[in-house]
Amino acid sequence: MTVEHATREWKVPNPELESFLLAHRKPTATARSKPKFGLGSLLSAFAAGALACFLTQYALCGSRCFFCPKNDNAPSIAAPDVFVLASPWAGSTERHNYPPPTPTNAFPSMFPTDVGYAGKTPTGAEPAVIATAPSYPIHTGAPLLVTPDMFSRKKGKKFDLLTKWGNLSPWYSMERGAFGVHSGPETPDTCRVTGLHLLHRHGARYPSAWASYGGPAGLSSRLNAATSKWTASGKLNFLNEWTYKLGEEVLTPFGRQQLFDLGISMRLKYGFLLKNFTESNTLPVFRTESQARMLASAQNFAIGFFGYPFEGQYQQSVTIEGHGFNNTLAPYTTCPNAQDSSRADRGRGYLAKWASVYLKRALRRLQTQLTGYTLTIEDVYVFQQLCAYETIALGYSKFCELFTEEEWDGFEYSFDLYFWYNSGFGFPLGRSQGIGYVQELVARLTHTPILTHNSSTNATLDDNPITFPFGQSLYVDATHEVVILNVLTALNLSTLAAQGPLPADHIPKDRTFRVSQLAPFATNVQFQLLECTSVPGPQIRIIVNDGVVPLTGIAGCAAQKDGMCAVDAFVAAQKKIIGVTDWAYDCYGNWTVPDGWETTTGEPPRS
Ligand SMILES: *[C@@H]1O[C@H](CO)[C@@H](O)[C@H](O)[C@H]1NC(C)=O
Ligand SMILES: *[C@@H]1O[C@H](CO)[C@@H](O)[C@H](O)[C@H]1NC(C)=O
Ligand SMILES: *[C@@H]1O[C@H](CO)[C@@H](O)[C@H](O)[C@H]1NC(C)=O
Ligand SMILES: *[C@@H]1O[C@H](CO)[C@@H](O)[C@H](O)[C@H]1NC(C)=O
Ligand SMILES: *[C@@H]1O[C@H](CO)[C@@H](O)[C@H](O)[C@H]1NC(C)=O
Ligand SMILES: *[C@@H]1O[C@H](CO)[C@@H](O)[C@H](O)[C@H]1NC(C)=O
Repeated sequence: MTVEHATREWKVPNPELESFLLAHRKPTATARSKPKFGLGSLLSAFAAGALACFLTQYALCGSRCFFCPKNDNAPSIAAPDVFVLASPWAGSTERHNYPPPTPTNAFPSMFPTDVGYAGKTPTGAEPAVIATAPSYPIHTGAPLLVTPDMFSRKKGKKFDLLTKWGNLSPWYSMERGAFGVHSGPETPDTCRVTGLHLLHRHGARYPSAWASYGGPAGLSSRLNAATSKWTASGKLNFLNEWTYKLGEEVLTPFGRQQLFDLGISMRLKYGFLLKNFTESNTLPVFRTESQARMLASAQNFAIGFFGYPFEGQYQQSVTIEGHGFNNTLAPYTTCPNAQDSSRADRGRGYLAKWASVYLKRALRRLQTQLTGYTLTIEDVYVFQQLCAYETIALGYSKFCELFTEEEWDGFEYSFDLYFWYNSGFGFPLGRSQGIGYVQELVARLTHTPILTHNSSTNATLDDNPITFPFGQSLYVDATHEVVILNVLTALNLSTLAAQGPLPADHIPKDRTFRVSQLAPFATNVQFQLLECTSVPGPQIRIIVNDGVVPLTGIAGCAAQKDGMCAVDAFVAAQKKIIGVTDWAYDCYGNWTVPDGWETTTGEPPRS
């Protein structure tokens, strides 16, 4: 089922595969539902969706691609307008369409904001916590979210459920030494910070529209579609009254807070970098993408960083995330092989295998509390996903009470496996997907335009000094977790891959590749530039969620107590990596992944 303008079958549409919709689920016209699940509307939406899939069968991939049911094993996809389609699989069974479209009491002219009389408005000096404070502020927990109070406090340390959700975890500060460098983000002695390149992810969002394994909406429709009446008891009792309340794709209120907070924290730490702009009489240029949650994340960051109104204080480049648009922050849209499941979705198999190991007992336990519906491992996995998604969207989830600490550890590892193989060092396209941003980083560090545009870079934007300026002391770019993992891979931060290829039958000890630490919601990577009296030349450090990452895997970067490397050496190594990365082969080559073949550098097999 292909159409003319789809040049190939896009099987694994993902940028953010993480939301795991069951691709092969067919709408069943005969299914009966429980009224409390709003079954009728769900089914008709389902059928309409299937129809729309056929009508709008074209391949546009972004983080919101859809699979259309084609046959049970070979889904093809379409990317219809989510809003028009009413989300055939992912629609809430309960929703509140706020705001009302035509409120009767809306008279904006009677509520002006610019009424004068602002009082005095003198400003003070910019903060510089990174240089002035005796310690660095730590970011932990999520005070506005509630998790069950049932987990242990060993040695005064509480089991922190929020950190067990992989890419669905809220970001938190790494402890000093977490990645192997016993130093913090604060300015090292004898140094001063001269610049910052910040790469961050959007905040907490609803599930994305589809997934290769699991997927909360899929469970909701399966429960609805069950032909016999089922009843839940015990800990599952709440399920009898439960409705599916999640939307799709967009930022949740908590996600909004995450970016707002990140903006404030960066202003407090690095506000002094703005002096540079006043001196050169320019504005910073920040970048994000067109997707709703990406734009909203960038704007919330800006409100935190600049305050409201932020207009006139910086310029926001909103690049297009859509099929066929060169975009380093959404590289998969121009890379066909990144859309092909045999090359790009090996993670699904590993994840399914691991789930069947660590959830075996949970399945048996939960099945005894549910009669009339046979649970699968995948259903139980979705219960865990629902705990995460409901908490970050609705503030609390009964699903969180269903699992043991060990099962949450298993859940956390499921993301490490999945993203290792689908985005990171075990992903044959990891390096090529990340290389565009690395080229841009090198261009900015060397004040030199990109020589040849032969990856995901966009000449129109990057060759224009207005949209891609050099010589700024502060850069802020927003992207997706998969891209952040691609970039960490392309940079050759091989200490993060030390345990690699990850096994699907047990959790390896002391793994450094943890998605909840590398790519959670609002994850942030600080490329910190320094000048020191103790070492010659400008230095760079890479700080992931406040943890300093060793650069020792990068050629020419020796071990250094604060994790610094000379910018010259760093750039030389990155140029080498750029030189050996072949986007055309990686993205268009007809390579296959042999059984048992592995990569730990994010490169495809070369035959
Ligand atoms: C480069 O980006 C701009 C803005 O997103 C877009 O209009 C243009 O089509 C892109 N160019 C290519 C070759 O994708
Ligand atoms: C877009 O990317 C392709 C592949 O790397 C490249 O050939 C082309 O020149 C790029 N176009 C622009 C305008 O950057
Ligand atoms: C601003 O910062 C950049 C990067 O650190 C530097 O190259 C430039 O000279 C600075 N400009 C001014 C006017 O201080
Ligand atoms: C990349 O990492 C590998 C493994 O640590 C190392 O052997 C190689 O020299 C690195 N390459 C560059 C250019 O940094
Ligand atoms: C792509 O262009 C860069 C310069 O921008 C160059 O270093 C690299 O070798 C090129 N890659 C290929 C495969 O030609
Ligand atoms: C790609 O390679 C496979 C296996 O080597 C082969 O069967 C297939 O025909 C090739 N496809 C194309 C389009 O060349």
